[in-house]
Amino acid sequence: MNILTLETTCDETAAAVITERREVLASVVASQDALHRRFGGVVPEIASRAHVERIVPVIDETLRRAGLRPGDLDAVAVANTPGLAGSLLVGLVAAKTFCVALDIPLIAVNHLQAHIYACRMAAGADVFPCVGLIISGGHTSLYRCEGPLDFTLLGATIDDAAGEAFDKVASLLGLPYPGGPAIQRASQGGNPKAYPFPRALVHDRQRLDFSFSGLKTAVRYTIAGPGRRDLPPADLTPQQIADLAASFQEAVVDCLVDKAFLAVEQTGMNTLCVGGGVAANARLRGRLEHEAHHRGVALHVAPLALCTDNAVMGAIAVERFRAGCFEELDLDVYPGVVRKTG
Ligand code: KG4
Ligand code: ZN
Repeated sequence: MNILTLETTCDETAAAVITERREVLASVVASQDALHRRFGGVVPEIASRAHVERIVPVIDETLRRAGLRPGDLDAVAVANTPGLAGSLLVGLVAAKTFCVALDIPLIAVNHLQAHIYACRMAAGADVFPCVGLIISGGHTSLYRCEGPLDFTLLGATIDDAAGEAFDKVASLLGLPYPGGPAIQRASQGGNPKAYPFPRALVHDRQRLDFSFSGLKTAVRYTIAGPGRRDLPPADLTPQQIADLAASFQEAVVDCLVDKAFLAVEQTGMNTLCVGGGVAANARLRGRLEHEAHHRGVALHVAPLALCTDNAVMGAIAVERFRAGCFEELDLDVYPGVVRKTG
């Protein structure tokens, strides 16, 4: 059995073919980073138009690499929540078109559950129940994951997502988009203790929420001085940029690690799964490993290729296929986050 999985929730156009035994026959990701770079972040209208141009070539290439023809497909799965409405619609319409033309079932994928399922794919074994930390450009959320399809929200950012903060601070420092990899690179020669940036909400031992907006403002004021608009990044020395990047990164990592293990404590679960673009961060991965080892917690961080958006994590469709969860052709997109699934 072959499932075509499609992913167009944000700015990556991706497709994969997965078998019922979770084998990945092919996976293609067309990144739009180059299109959004000059704006310092994802522009929704540009993203949806680029998906329209790329979705058919990406599917064609995926089938070619898998050595399959459309008639060899048994189902099509598509991420329909959460994400940018216009981007989600492109994947959904493509998926429905295949289903109608081939008379095969349609499967809905929750993109946040899929980010955690990337850990399941890499582990090659069950990882549930677990605490799931999803950290991306659009989300920073902690879930109690009883099973791959049964998630309950424990906490989330009350303002910016972690990846969004990386992207905005990179722009303040004159570094390119996407900001996460750029800040990671810039931080290498920097001192993470150079600037005492705030760690919002870490003092609160009950709440499992995050806040990165004040941190972003603190970086801005450090660069420009209170009440002033941006200082041109050219005025910063390379060492200042490195120190600012390292200090900012350390503050984000402190908050993420702190709340992730607080969630482990509060739920009594002994497994932590981490996915999403920011999970690619080397400093974060190192700190998570250290803390998990120290506490005896089983840790699964998505492999680098499966952190940022891809269609392999759409393999969660296998779980829905087995559970007989198929969709009608009037399936819609749901841009917002669902607090409880299952
Ligand atoms: O999961 P993803 O591809 O898209 C969303 O669903 O949002 O995540 C993209 C985000 C961007 O904000 C990017 O800056 C961040 O992930 N990112 C990183 C790293 N690589 C990507 N953040 C920190 N460190 C990295 N190495
Ligand atoms: Zn994502």
